[in-house]
Amino acid sequence: MIVLSVESSCDETSVAVARDGKEILSNVVLSQISLHQAFGGVVPEIASREHVKGVTVVFEQAIQEAGIKPQDIDLVAVTQGPGLIGSLLVGINAAKAFAFAHGIPITGVHHIAGHIYANQIEDDMLFPLVALVVSGGHTELILMRDHYRFEKLGETQDDAVGEAYDKVARVLGLGYPGGPIIDKLAVEGTTRYPMPHIKTAGKYDFSYSGLKSHVINTVNTMKMKKETVDPKDMAASFQEAAVRHLIEQSKNAIEDHQAKMFIIAGGVAANKALRKAVFDTFKAVKVSVPPFKYCTDNAAMMAIAAHYQYQTKQRTDDMALNGASRLILS
Ligand code: KG4
Ligand code: ZN
Repeated sequence: MIVLSVESSCDETSVAVARDGKEILSNVVLSQISLHQAFGGVVPEIASREHVKGVTVVFEQAIQEAGIKPQDIDLVAVTQGPGLIGSLLVGINAAKAFAFAHGIPITGVHHIAGHIYANQIEDDMLFPLVALVVSGGHTELILMRDHYRFEKLGETQDDAVGEAYDKVARVLGLGYPGGPIIDKLAVEGTTRYPMPHIKTAGKYDFSYSGLKSHVINTVNTMKMKKETVDPKDMAASFQEAAVRHLIEQSKNAIEDHQAKMFIIAGGVAANKALRKAVFDTFKAVKVSVPPFKYCTDNAAMMAIAAHYQYQTKQRTDDMALNGASRLILS
């Protein structure tokens, strides 16, 4: 089965073609990051406009690189949500137009299912499986007892971990997006700044606002006292606390559900400290981390998720398919 997929939920315009839920024939990603950098974050209006400008070219390039013709495609998949509604609609309308013009069935796919299925590209899923989803908007633990069956065990009670990385980078004046910058700097620093130990009511839940505020307050107080903040040491201290919390909650979920496999998914899954920590900590389960290029938003992961969604549910949509800024993973 050949799937063509479209992803435009945030600030990447991407189209991919994949065969049989495994082989990526093409994955074209047009990133807008440089345009949003001046604003310190994604500006939704700019994002929608850039998707409109780029989507046709990205479509053509993905089909050309895959070496296929539109009539070879069995299914068109598109990210339905969650995400920025204006951005989602550009991808959805482009996907609908393409599917309608070529008489191909279309299906909407959940963005987080895509992040999770990025792991299926190089590894095969083993069930029961625990997935730690970590991105700019999500911090969740998901249990899967089989393909395309998602049970949410817990989630952040306030900020997402990626958001905390971005805000900490901002107060340190490091630029946007902050995650990769902190990741790099932390390697050169020491964990000499004390950080709070994060506590949550639920053993699979997360909380990042306290840690984020602690760093912001520490940095601002030090600046007022004219003390110098070492960004490397602050990055290392913050990252150590942030990753420790992810590992502690994941450990609870893995042990309680006798998981055979543990995977990480989403933009923060690119984090080197987190990747090292999961392999160092979880020895009794098969651990999978997505290839770097499939961690942040891309359409390849959406094509793999679409393949499994179709195989398990035979779900297709019609031309009434609409975007949803909030959407439950099911
Ligand atoms: O999955 P993604 O591309 O978009 C969302 O769906 O949110 O994730 C983006 C987030 C940003 O917060 C970014 O700072 C973070 O992932 N990120 C990282 C790293 N690379 C991206 N965070 C920590 N370490 C990284 N290496
Ligand atoms: Zn994402």
